[in-house]
Amino acid sequence: MIETDTLMAELINVRTRQGSSLYPISIDGGSLRSIGEVAAGIVPGGKVAIISNRKVNGLYGLIVTNALKKSGLKPVTHLIGDGERFKSLRTLESTLKFLGENKISRTDLIVAVGGGVVGDLAGFAAAVYLRGIKFIQVPTTLLSMIDSSVGGKTGVNTSFGKNLVGAFYQPSAVVIDPDVLATLPKRELTAGFCEAVKQGALSGTKLLDLTQKALDEKLAFGQFDRFLAEQIRFKASIVAADERESAEKTDAKSRKILNFGHTFGHAIEKATQYRRFKHGEAVGHGIIFAAELSKKLELLKQDEVDLLNGVVHRAGKLPTLHGIDSAAVIEAFGFDKKVIGNSLQWILLSGIGKPVIKSGADLPATTLKSTLRTILSR
Ligand code: NAD
Ligand code: GLY
Repeated sequence: MIETDTLMAELINVRTRQGSSLYPISIDGGSLRSIGEVAAGIVPGGKVAIISNRKVNGLYGLIVTNALKKSGLKPVTHLIGDGERFKSLRTLESTLKFLGENKISRTDLIVAVGGGVVGDLAGFAAAVYLRGIKFIQVPTTLLSMIDSSVGGKTGVNTSFGKNLVGAFYQPSAVVIDPDVLATLPKRELTAGFCEAVKQGALSGTKLLDLTQKALDEKLAFGQFDRFLAEQIRFKASIVAADERESAEKTDAKSRKILNFGHTFGHAIEKATQYRRFKHGEAVGHGIIFAAELSKKLELLKQDEVDLLNGVVHRAGKLPTLHGIDSAAVIEAFGFDKKVIGNSLQWILLSGIGKPVIKSGADLPATTLKSTLRTILSR
């Protein structure tokens, strides 16, 4: 299902089970300069709507634009605001207006250059504009390279919750240039590494070890690309088996497992009005919470909990949980994409690489509350 071809650079082909799409993900230092060749292979001679934000465009916009022009394409650029609050219906509307005013047609292309905010928003615009046009993801944060650019979840936030409006819409290609990580702020790297730890914990000791080595900067030259590739291969394997996160699927290959650490993560983001944590940082705390809960349910051993705590802390300093009220967290557990039939589904671990999905209905409220007390009092 996942075809892998390692040449000079890492190249991963993702094929979803429905066979609806097959797209290449390339990982290669400096590949931003050859984005034109990839785009021209998809829409030869076409117009390309680059969607980005001011910061990323200031750093890499010229490289992307020149590369597209060199390949005979006609780029136009639309900049959205920087930050989670701009992943909104309002930004979607202004983006669609830009596409319409620039007469982008079904034989043209969108290229999303930025982190997960740009990628999710631009992907959703590609899904709905003219009922769907092609798009390329060019992720520029660690989180977007290993997670959000792969798998076709696109969407926006609304007044009733994060990521609750969107579409499953796969890109035509993902182009990863790890060199752009050199300009990424430290907190954003930490946030990305927390998602990498999440995927390592779900996949098994091999990926967790590789992630630990990446954190300890113990990878030989060129090995960082392999770390990215292995992370992406894991994510792609889950997507391939359960592209649309089927509600009924509850085994270890369900796409739901990728929400490991997210129930508590989303709750603390909400309880702090989305001001204190980067998403990945909240997931870091969420991993520690889910590990502790797994231990209290006698699924996970103390040494495995300690291992996960150690790797999360190695990812970087996380903003404190100090002052977060447990009642606010419990209330925030209330509405979540993972609430199915009014029963929260918890992604837990019965070992490293052994995810289990437990219904909230099967989970004693006292265990949940005592885990909350343990974690919030640290
Ligand atoms: P982000 O897109 O907000 O980017 C973080 C910050 O880094 C921004 O200020 C951005 O301008 C800046 N930046 C980006 N690339 C840079 C670079 N190379 N150098 C310097 N600065 C750079 O955040 P993110 O962590 O990339 O993405 C978070 C979003 O992703 C959330 O909205 C989350 O819901 C979404 N997400 C989606 C999926 C999915 O499957 N679609 C998965 C995980 C997360
Ligand atoms: N990041 C969760 C997913 O892609 O399903």
